[in-house]
Amino acid sequence: MDCKIRITGLNMDYTGSEEGESSLRVLSDVNLEVFENEFVSLLGPSGCGKSTLLRLIAGLEHDYEGEILLGGINPRHKRVPVCYMLQKDCLMPWRSMLSNVLLPIEIKKGDLKKAREEIKPLVQEFGLSGFENYRPRQLSGGMRQRAALLRTYLMDGEIMLLDEPFGSLDEITRMQMQDWLISVWEKHRKTVLFVTHDIDEAIYLSDRVVVLSDRPGTVNGVVQIDFERPRKRDMILTPQFSEYKKDILSLLASFPAW
Ligand SMILES: Nc1ncnc2c1ncn2[C@@H]1O[C@H](COP(=O)(O)OP(=O)(O)OP(=O)(O)O)[C@@H](O)[C@H]1O
Ligand SMILES: [Mg+2]
Repeated sequence: MDCKIRITGLNMDYTGSEEGESSLRVLSDVNLEVFENEFVSLLGPSGCGKSTLLRLIAGLEHDYEGEILLGGINPRHKRVPVCYMLQKDCLMPWRSMLSNVLLPIEIKKGDLKKAREEIKPLVQEFGLSGFENYRPRQLSGGMRQRAALLRTYLMDGEIMLLDEPFGSLDEITRMQMQDWLISVWEKHRKTVLFVTHDIDEAIYLSDRVVVLSDRPGTVNGVVQIDFERPRKRDMILTPQFSEYKKDILSLLASFPAW
């Protein structure tokens, strides 16, 4: 299987903006591989550097030590397109849902009229039909997240970086969104790196869960999830699920007693 993301010996510091301000080590010796069509979750305490790691993979910052390769290409030398969804949905409030979603096409200077026709089945699949002309404030939280995900999906690139896409949703909506994401992913398959705080969510969705330490973030361990696909909700109630959860908790630095 092709390795789509390979990170080796990654260190990253945020240097203070004022002279004399000390720098902050955020990531320390991170090593990580994500293979083609894999769904990998990144789990770790708040502030451990998860969003920073995604920014580095997306090529938004280049000031780090170590190596990041995306499909064998170093994004420092050549831009590698990735689909990237920020921690906040970042929909533009003055644009309609559809014109928010079509932003990647607009940026690429693609054929918007054609895209509007072609996207119809996807708008349906993402549960947004009938709301094309609504502004983001007129949509529910789950719909806004699905619109942001659809926009992310339309970006170029085989790698999808999702930064806590369901973090702000209530539990029922979150579970619906997880089931929906998994069904969309099982159908369209991309390589996904998914950041979350939620252990159950990570186990339910992923092929592997990568557990990071407190800041400076480093990989404490990786838990392979062998549940068959399609995933079913009642997997959450099995002893195997509890075992995975226990393994993950013991890898989180804040639970040394496990
Ligand atoms: N632009 C920046 N300049 C300076 N420090 C930053 C910057 N962005 C993030 N940091 C710091 O880097 C550390 C890691 O931040 P990051 O956003 O990557 O954490 P995170 O793991 O995504 O946290 P959360 O789970 O709360 O989203 C934090 O201490 C944060 O204050
Ligand atoms: Mg974050």
